[in-house]
Amino acid sequence: MSGLFITLEGPEGAGKSTNREYLAERLRERGQEVLLTREPGGTPLAEQIRELLLAPSDEPMCSDTELLLVFAARAQHLEQVIRPALARGALVLCDRFTDATYAYQGGGRGLSFQRIEQLETFVQGELRPDLTLIFDLPVEIGLSRAAARGRLDRFEQEGLRFFESVRNAYLERARQAPHRYRVIDAGMPLEVVQQCLQALLPELLERARG
Ligand SMILES: Nc1ncnc2c1ncn2[C@@H]1O[C@H](COP(=O)(O)OP(=O)(O)OP(=O)(O)O)[C@@H](O)[C@H]1O
Ligand SMILES: [Mg+2]
Repeated sequence: MSGLFITLEGPEGAGKSTNREYLAERLRERGQEVLLTREPGGTPLAEQIRELLLAPSDEPMCSDTELLLVFAARAQHLEQVIRPALARGALVLCDRFTDATYAYQGGGRGLSFQRIEQLETFVQGELRPDLTLIFDLPVEIGLSRAAARGRLDRFEQEGLRFFESVRNAYLERARQAPHRYRVIDAGMPLEVVQQCLQALLPELLERARG
């Protein structure tokens, strides 16, 4: 038995965290077992690594350090949470995963996509998300939503150019493998975004049961 692995992606303030609960509830009320989790994090140890990644610090973090921490957290999360859930047939809904590494460490920090791909294979083997929903919106809107939440984390302190690169990297990945991605216009009001998610439910359930 193997479950379905769905990831939610997109830049700061796009609405991933706001909508993951909504999506999980709609799936559960149709009888689907859903495991809701997030990256970086998803286990106590991986959440500690998340804190290292997000906390602003006086010592600049090297881009390679950042990349390795992201994958270290991911290795723990996969082993402890994601793989066991998929093995028992659950639908795993994960707020950010390796597409975020391509977007932030690749697009944003400028690290080589090839290097990221090597680590992806090292840590994940063959495992890739079955489907990735990209919450896409203009960078300024996302950042103003994130700023309204309060204190900015280490990534949110980056400038507009960084986030333009993040956004473009996400969209480019969707263009290269359209069957694996659904791009959602996340700049719309929440009700409209949730109508888009609602419209995706039949496909998600069919794939989960297929
Ligand atoms: N469609 C929307 N319209 C207006 N505001 C929204 C919409 N979706 C989410 N928000 C608000 O924007 C803020 C950021 O949303 P959320 O935390 O879900 O983003 P996120 O994608 O999880 O961001 P991050 O990557 O930083 O975790 C929240 O205050 C949320 O209420
Ligand atoms: Mg979030």
